Amino acid sequence: MPLRTLTVVGARPEFVQTAPLARAIEATKGIAGGLVHTGQHYDYEMSQVFFSQLELPEPVHHLGVGSGTHGAQTGAMLAGLDEVYESENPDLVITHGDTNSTLAAALSAAKLGIPVAHVEAGLRSWNRTMPEELNRVVADHISTWLFCPGEVAADNLHAEGINEGVFVVGDLMRDSLLWTMRNIDIASALQRFDVVPGEFFLATVHRAENTDDEANLRSILEGLRRATQRYPVVLPAHPRTRPLIEAIGVAPGIRLVDPIGHTEAIALAGQAAAVLTDSGGLQKEVYWLETPCITMRDETEWIETVETGWNRLTGADPIAIEAAIKAALTERHPHPELYGDGRTAHRIVDHLLTS
Ligand code: UD1
Repeated sequence: MPLRTLTVVGARPEFVQTAPLARAIEATKGIAGGLVHTGQHYDYEMSQVFFSQLELPEPVHHLGVGSGTHGAQTGAMLAGLDEVYESENPDLVITHGDTNSTLAAALSAAKLGIPVAHVEAGLRSWNRTMPEELNRVVADHISTWLFCPGEVAADNLHAEGINEGVFVVGDLMRDSLLWTMRNIDIASALQRFDVVPGEFFLATVHRAENTDDEANLRSILEGLRRATQRYPVVLPAHPRTRPLIEAIGVAPGIRLVDPIGHTEAIALAGQAAAVLTDSGGLQKEVYWLETPCITMRDETEWIETVETGWNRLTGADPIAIEAAIKAALTERHPHPELYGDGRTAHRIVDHLLTS
């Protein structure tokens, strides 16, 4: 009998992370897999477009949980996952990252005595007001396998007394990016958004700390307005963020658009003069694409990208954003390899089969 795994996904970054792992599981004898979609993200642009662009297998279960308060959303996932796990009886559950789906996947499995593999373990922002920080801390402490993207993450786990089952394997997003790069159509992405290579900024804002605090969102939009004095800004907005941005209003050089698919996002990120974001995943993708990044948060889990000089933390402060843009466009830094070599999925499968 092969090792039977179930992987739980629900939000955009998990779709990107799980694609290479699903392929590696499919290609390896002795291990079998299936996807469970919690339904945390459900709009076409937030979910289905990722499944088709990343060629992800259809989920074997779709919980259709949808939106709600953190408690209601996570609770509905727990109830649904209990049933799925009972009926599928997997040997282990795989969960990615730090979303509410991550937390529910790990918690339901651990309570049923099913071992959990947490991929992207050990990340810390040290900010417990972030829902993502709470999700990842809990998931790490109840997981059997902890797959870390780098040494810093492994050290964070050791500092919290987690030593067993910790493996530094690199980052699945690296695998995913290398695969996606083969399928991107840069010319049509540039044409669709009417921008010139190296002469536009790509921006995203969706973290609760930025969007749910009107003063912070206003400051960020002021930072982006200052950016337009140099180049236009393409701003694909999460469905939760868009009405909040529209209520404040944007400067004429900001192109506010619906969320874009993964291949367009990568095409634009690789061609932008710089990317301004509060996303976790994009900070790494932008690093690998060798595009300067400006992270509009006070802290980051991906501190190696800051240490190399390719990523700058500005918070929501427009003056800091403006200064970071200026520095990003003029400074050049060495570009050491970070977070693996694109073979993370195979390393994870090997560890699951042998440990
Ligand atoms: C979630 C993750 C975050 C991740 C992000 C990627 C948590 C706590 N946060 O944040 O770590 O970086 O996904 O995108 O899990 N909505 C829609 N359509 C959708 C999905 C959401 O309109 O398809 C709206 C709803 O109004 C919903 C709100 O977005 O209430 C929040 O969505 P949710 O999935 O809870 O959190 P995200 O902000 O997307």
